[in-house]
Amino acid sequence: MTIQWFPGHMTRARRQIQEKLKLIDMAIELLDARVPLSSRNPMIDEILMNKPRLVLLNKSDLADPEATKAWIAYFAEQGLRALPIDAVGGNPVKEIMNRSKELLADKIEAQIRKGMNPRAIRALIVGIPNVGKSTLINRMAGRKIAATGDRPGVTKGQQWIKVGTEMELLDTPGILWPKFEDQQVGLRLAATGAIKEEILHPEEIAFFAVRYMAVHYADALQERYGVEELPQDTEDANAIVEVMEAIGRKRGAIVSGGRVDLEKASLLILRELRAGKLGRISLELPE
Ligand code: G4P
Repeated sequence: MTIQWFPGHMTRARRQIQEKLKLIDMAIELLDARVPLSSRNPMIDEILMNKPRLVLLNKSDLADPEATKAWIAYFAEQGLRALPIDAVGGNPVKEIMNRSKELLADKIEAQIRKGMNPRAIRALIVGIPNVGKSTLINRMAGRKIAATGDRPGVTKGQQWIKVGTEMELLDTPGILWPKFEDQQVGLRLAATGAIKEEILHPEEIAFFAVRYMAVHYADALQERYGVEELPQDTEDANAIVEVMEAIGRKRGAIVSGGRVDLEKASLLILRELRAGKLGRISLELPE
């Protein structure tokens, strides 16, 4: 899904989430483990106000485990518990339940002290497009939940999805916008596939990704593509383009006359990076 965000959309998105805050006990903030800050809404603290919050680093199956550890420490410093998950291949539901109960332990205990049966925890999932919100909702529901947008013209009321007996999720997630005025953020998101190529050129995105990997994951580049020599100076743009060309040549991305088709090579690199073919790679580290 590609959404064009304008200030009016942002205001509406924010208002929609804030209306739902009244209904919930906690928010589940979904981020992309490969680019946690870039996949984060810049106004999230203001939007969620003081709601208890669990941060999930999704797609952790594609992220560098060392980088993910560093990010967990980063969020802990901010008083936020972050849990890495894989909404597709993992089994995240039980751990999310346990963490949520810990987060709301005081509230649950207060209910018990008053002789009440603790009621199900009510939660809302929020995150930017493509971060895995629907996938996670389906996992937690244990079935496929039709998105509201699937039935144009039909406005259905708010539905609660039961997650076992102890949790209830709002069926429509809160969709947030990233900080796209920052070009680095745009490139990181595009490299992970969260932003489509029509917005940024594939060559520009692949250039960013190859440079980042030449600095942080040189071994992965060498292993996958057999690039013999990586540039000493990764600030040298020509040297990075040469690496991209070397990859294109190895993979047969050639146009007539024997020149490398850089766009084709770029698309190939991006496709393989996103599919995890280069290994588990994160594209952002805490400062
Ligand atoms: P959204 O509701 O937040 O917009 O995201 P959605 O669930 O639609 O997920 C976007 C894509 O990310 C989907 O791929 C989904 O399978 C994938 N995805 C979600 N969680 C994980 C995860 O933990 N690990 C991995 N590896 N992938 C995950 P898709 O349907 O193939 O979409 P696309 O890639 O064709 O855009």
